[in-house]
Amino acid sequence: MTLPFRYEKLGYAALNVTSLERSVPFYRDLMGLEVVTMDERMAFLRCGQDHHSLILYQAPSAGIKRVAYKMATKADLERAFAHLAESGMAPQWIDPAESTALGIGPAFRVREPNSGLMLEFYDRMIQMAVPFNPTVTKIARIGHVVLGARKYAESVRTLSEVFNFTVSDFVENKFSWMRCFPNPLHHALAVGKSERDHLHHVNFMVSDIDDIGAAINRMKKAGVQIVFGPGRHLPSTSIFLYFLDPDGMTMEFSFGMEEIHEENPREPRMLEMHSRTMDIWGSTPHEQFGKFGAIEGGHD
Ligand SMILES: [Fe+2]
Repeated sequence: MTLPFRYEKLGYAALNVTSLERSVPFYRDLMGLEVVTMDERMAFLRCGQDHHSLILYQAPSAGIKRVAYKMATKADLERAFAHLAESGMAPQWIDPAESTALGIGPAFRVREPNSGLMLEFYDRMIQMAVPFNPTVTKIARIGHVVLGARKYAESVRTLSEVFNFTVSDFVENKFSWMRCFPNPLHHALAVGKSERDHLHHVNFMVSDIDDIGAAINRMKKAGVQIVFGPGRHLPSTSIFLYFLDPDGMTMEFSFGMEEIHEENPREPRMLEMHSRTMDIWGSTPHEQFGKFGAIEGGHD
């Protein structure tokens, strides 16, 4: 079977925050992203050569605005548009003035209809001339976004059958970890069953175990609520730390992740719903873990 289109990676997440003034210092000074540009409406932050890996938008309520994936080639971008249009997903090319303002090439947006999540597809982003200079954290990349969805099964089916995400592991009727094929990282998107549609968390992968340990102390000193970890996820083998941003949205730092390659991939595993699946070290999530943040334009 010819696959309709190929991803390269998760490019960036766009979050709504209720106070840029409060959130920008958090993402810059405590998480370690670099502010590229900002005005009173939005802030672009980076953690590598890409122009940005995160955009914060000033908004009346906090949540996920969209998640943007970089396609492997321009031809993949065009194939993705044609495939999603044929599949009835109604993708829309974004105005060239907006793609220029975002520092990306031609791009389109399309809503995953079950969770309400807006996805963006693009094939190139401005590569910065000056290398990213890590401050408090050696962030390697934005890793993944996780959602809670009422129509969990429908959302996972659409993401895998129409959007060409590949399930790496799942807990039956509860949770699916998906990679953006053929990117080998265990998951770039995950969906869990929930009473409502909401953002669960946004992950940044760090390049050193010390980044996790140092973050624990830095967050505690700054009075940031740690909501889960440190621990190690069973499915992806990642060592993790979850904490809350100033709006209460859950952010994650993780170190290490299984890679599943295009040649001879292993089959997805059906995992037990067990606290050990979430953390083999046995920490317990706080009640605010993965709770706060709307899906903009979604159903709730
Ligand atoms: Fe995660």
